[in-house]
Amino acid sequence: MHIFYGKAALRDYLKSIKTSNFTIGFVPTMGALHQGHLSLIQKSMQENQATVVSIFVNPTQFNNPEDLAKYPRTLDEDIQKIGNLSPEIIVFAPTVEDIYEGQTVSQSFDFDGLENQMEGKFRPGHFNGVGTIVKRLFEIVEPTNAYFGEKDFQQLQIIKKMVAKNNLKVTIKGCPIFREPNNLAMSSRNALLSSKEKQEASLIYQTLIDAKTKFKKNSATAVTDWIQKSFEKNPDFKLEYFQIADEATLLPCLRKNKNKKYRAFIAVFVNNIRLIDTISLN
Ligand code: PAJ
Repeated sequence: MHIFYGKAALRDYLKSIKTSNFTIGFVPTMGALHQGHLSLIQKSMQENQATVVSIFVNPTQFNNPEDLAKYPRTLDEDIQKIGNLSPEIIVFAPTVEDIYEGQTVSQSFDFDGLENQMEGKFRPGHFNGVGTIVKRLFEIVEPTNAYFGEKDFQQLQIIKKMVAKNNLKVTIKGCPIFREPNNLAMSSRNALLSSKEKQEASLIYQTLIDAKTKFKKNSATAVTDWIQKSFEKNPDFKLEYFQIADEATLLPCLRKNKNKKYRAFIAVFVNNIRLIDTISLN
């Protein structure tokens, strides 16, 4: 295994293995790896000569200190899971100091409004933190391709926007959502749920499936009202938002346009654990 805890050593190593036409695939993560992360790593391995996986719980993207404190950290197990895929994978697990050099703050970004919807609305500053860390990691790793999950669809669109606006030389690849057997989207936060809560949380995807069916014949507003009412009846869940939005702009769908692609987005608390999911509607 090639494991690096500092950017200088990683860069030296990458320089030593790079030849002409060498491609580097990059999978940024915050660790507590599950099959969803591993599917991104496998995709990168299929498409590149070398794969770098970063494991870094990025403090600047947490608007809530409690959420940052309880975020699962399982570096040894993560390294083992990556090693089981292939000992050739390069792991980058830097310290906060190595990345932020004493200035643990975000840069301010303009993502053409993508940052003002949904996650951006409910987690102020979150996408400035994500933009800051991903840009920094891109500068360190200089990847050819970088892999992001559609689970965080808004994040994926924001990273594509950042790359386009800054003319970064990296291709962003979106990857499908990996789910538990009960269809709950895999997430590092699922480790914080009891087995009963995990079972109950299958309702989230079921609700998205119902929304997709209803959206065929009803307006976005009618579907949203229906979802909000059905969550109000269920005391085990606290719905933070449900939004049907245009995939490109992430603006809420006010009137359906058959030329646009729509997606439903949901954020729900299950016993104080915040879970998100999304589904393509057409
Ligand atoms: P993290 O939540 O660890 O996710 C790392 C990557 O795995 C993201 O691109 C995310 O969308 C993807 N992912 C998570 N769950 C998935 C699932 N069930 N199926 C498929 N892909 C999944 O997202 C972050 O970390 C951070 O914001 C990061 C980009 C690393 C910046 O700190």
